[in-house]
Amino acid sequence: MHFSYILSAIALATSVTAQQQACNGYSALCAKPYNQLVSACTHNAYAFSPPGGIATNQVNDIPTQLNDGIRAFMLDAYNLPSGDTTDIQLCHTTCNLLDGGPLSKTLGQIKAFMDKNPNEVITILWENSQNLTPARFQTVYAAAGLVAYSHAQIPGAAAWPTLSQMISSGKRLVSFIDSGAAATVPWLMAEYDFVFETPYNIVTGSPYPCTIDRPKGQKKPMYVLNHFVSGQFSLGSNTISIPQPKIANVTNAAELADHVTNCQKVLKQTPNFIAVDFYEKGDLMKVVAQANGVKWNGKNSTDPASGSGSDSGSGSKNSAVGSYLVNAKALGMAVVMAVGLAAL
Ligand SMILES: *[C@@H]1O[C@H](CO)[C@@H](O)[C@H](O)[C@H]1NC(C)=O
Ligand SMILES: *[C@@H]1O[C@H](CO)[C@@H](O)[C@H](O)[C@H]1NC(C)=O
Repeated sequence: MHFSYILSAIALATSVTAQQQACNGYSALCAKPYNQLVSACTHNAYAFSPPGGIATNQVNDIPTQLNDGIRAFMLDAYNLPSGDTTDIQLCHTTCNLLDGGPLSKTLGQIKAFMDKNPNEVITILWENSQNLTPARFQTVYAAAGLVAYSHAQIPGAAAWPTLSQMISSGKRLVSFIDSGAAATVPWLMAEYDFVFETPYNIVTGSPYPCTIDRPKGQKKPMYVLNHFVSGQFSLGSNTISIPQPKIANVTNAAELADHVTNCQKVLKQTPNFIAVDFYEKGDLMKVVAQANGVKWNGKNSTDPASGSGSDSGSGSKNSAVGSYLVNAKALGMAVVMAVGLAAL
């Protein structure tokens, strides 16, 4: 009787320990403070539809991204076309060009994943082009049950918690916003108090920069390494930037590893968020593991096209392969986009 109590206590302790053994997939990450964690990040994470669309930056939906190991998500907040203020729409430039649907849906998917995976720490990086109030975010996060998961860090105060501590406290969702943060919603943190970003407008064929772009010239304890390339062309007075899925297997392979290594050297700091388009192509997970100082677990990302997302090519600078990978159909859509923009 006593003995079986002891046994079950041991079993319980063992299972708790086993659960705690990996943090974001690796036991070696548990003792790291959050500000030393490197996360795989999707640029415009919500922009996976329509498939193959000229403005889409990703292929996989949010649940697939989470299952594949993406732990940081760049999202863009917009007003709902309907004017409903109880939700936020995920759009790019305007909801007419790219509409990623309501935030409530995406947060529901993130909540479901976090419930099922209690040892995962997730980050959201918000772009707030329409200056939505923190209260708007509070409403949608609260409805999704994610305020209770949200960590609030006071700028300049105590050190960031370790991943283990965040997992134990349950406060393992970190949300940064590029503008409009306010003390009234402390978990929606001013990104540039904590994080800087390297430049994001990288044209195909140009070198990958390791400079401090936002906030200009100001080093912060963490940074976003922006590593996605755009083909650009002019249509009338507009410049159109187009994501480059066909070269992502090169962009996200040796070019990515080299960009990380170079910025570590130049900035003397390891990036915290490595942001790419078409993450399933190339070596993102391997590069992130290396940056975290852990041995990659070899887990592949889901590539619907080829069924695999691993090995790389070579080449150390931004490949110019087909600078303008724009087919006739895409060009047609770009004209529609340009006309749409001109009409704004
Ligand atoms: C990734 O998946 C592909 C195809 O399923 C497989 O051939 C390859 O060995 C996998 N790579 C790793 C590192 O597991
Ligand atoms: C990248 O994919 C293209 C096909 O889209 C292929 O021709 C090329 O060989 C691939 N490059 C590498 C380095 O895997």
